[in-house]
Amino acid sequence: MTVNADIDALATKASWRDLPAAQQPTYPDAEALREVVADLESYPPLVFAGECDELRTRMGAVARGEAFLLQGGDCAESFDAVTAEHIRAKLKTILQMGAVLTYAASVPVVKVGRIAGQYSKPRSKDTETRDGVTLPTYRGDSVNGFDFTEAARVPDPDRLRRMYHHSASTLNLVRAFTTGGYADLRQVHAWNQDFVRTSASGQRYEQLAREIDNALNFMRACGTDPEEFRTVEFYSSHEALLMDYESALTRVDSRTGRLYDVSAHMVWIGERTRQLDGAHIEFASKIRNPIGVKLGPTTTTEEALQYIERLDPEREPGRLTFVVRMGADKIRDKLPTLVEKVTASGATVAWVTDPMHGNTFEAASGHKTRRFDDVLDEVKGFFEVHKELGTHPGGIHVELTGDDVTECVGGGDEIFVDDLHQRYETACDPRLNRSQSLDLAFLVAEMYRSQ
Ligand code: PEP
Ligand code: CO
Repeated sequence: MTVNADIDALATKASWRDLPAAQQPTYPDAEALREVVADLESYPPLVFAGECDELRTRMGAVARGEAFLLQGGDCAESFDAVTAEHIRAKLKTILQMGAVLTYAASVPVVKVGRIAGQYSKPRSKDTETRDGVTLPTYRGDSVNGFDFTEAARVPDPDRLRRMYHHSASTLNLVRAFTTGGYADLRQVHAWNQDFVRTSASGQRYEQLAREIDNALNFMRACGTDPEEFRTVEFYSSHEALLMDYESALTRVDSRTGRLYDVSAHMVWIGERTRQLDGAHIEFASKIRNPIGVKLGPTTTTEEALQYIERLDPEREPGRLTFVVRMGADKIRDKLPTLVEKVTASGATVAWVTDPMHGNTFEAASGHKTRRFDDVLDEVKGFFEVHKELGTHPGGIHVELTGDDVTECVGGGDEIFVDDLHQRYETACDPRLNRSQSLDLAFLVAEMYRSQ
């Protein structure tokens, strides 16, 4: 590539700087931030541009109705939870969900973690008050500390460096797990059988698990042992929130001369930063990664069409995913017009449901929580709307953990409001625990089959 092309790419990469960027931390020491950014710019990529292209192709299949997306992981990853145990449990849960959905949907399930970079949180309020003390809000481990002390809540740019290193070690383990035989489909199925056999909620899915077992036995009897059973394609994603970090990890791909955000395979723009005249959309428009945009209940048709203009001018299936998060009580009202108008415009986007963020409420105990039934109902509404319109319900985007936490109420192994305090460990929003996540996968599988 010529020097001029390089300069052009750098100018393109910086175009967001002229626009307002919502939800950015104010660092007390600008020089310290500059040093960290310079370091980040020198670090190796966390993912390859070619892998981002591959995921865009997979998402193209989702957009065309030939595949299903399963995107899941923590609301906010925390540095402390970067341990083999937590990562393994999370991965195991997502793979188990994926196996069930693959069988039920009879199409490939594209697996994407909210993992290896999901450290930054947009917040509705700038401050938090406890017992008369008001401090800046916690904005994720990439920005400040969770502890409710003045010192912890000061934004520290060195946390961006730690975010990079924690993302790298997480991704390293994820890659080892998914390609090293640990994720063999037969093993994943055995875990599902275990869930069905040993948990009250699992017993309801005996029939489905038996069918999968029969299918695997049939293949073995035929003598097939496909390589695809032994390794899993697994991609990383997070919200592209902190402009300094995302921009520092945006590089020119030597093959194509185009820009890629190499901090993750897929990034999304959140509900609070999707302003059409803001920095986040501008930044996303310049990178080649597959892009998600969260659409909340106030989204207008005009906005949705503008996102397509800005982010998918080439009308390339797989480039743009709309992650709809309306709330169980609004999805059936709000989604049809959006899907109709977008479809009529000729664009092929992937439609995905996030049944978590529109269904959060505060329990009497003060815990932020969600009802499993609301989550399920939003997914149901999403499927109903697509069935009615003849369009493809492309996937689910959920906040989950592989641990037995008590953060969301309900589910087959029911968690009650009074249980919430027992293991409430999330750094931000309440996540489905391991059993609730599997529950959801089996229920979505049944939904898919009755489509
Ligand atoms: C999130 O996905 O964690 C999130 C904050 O979602 P939203 O932008 O849809 O509110
Ligand atoms: Co969240």
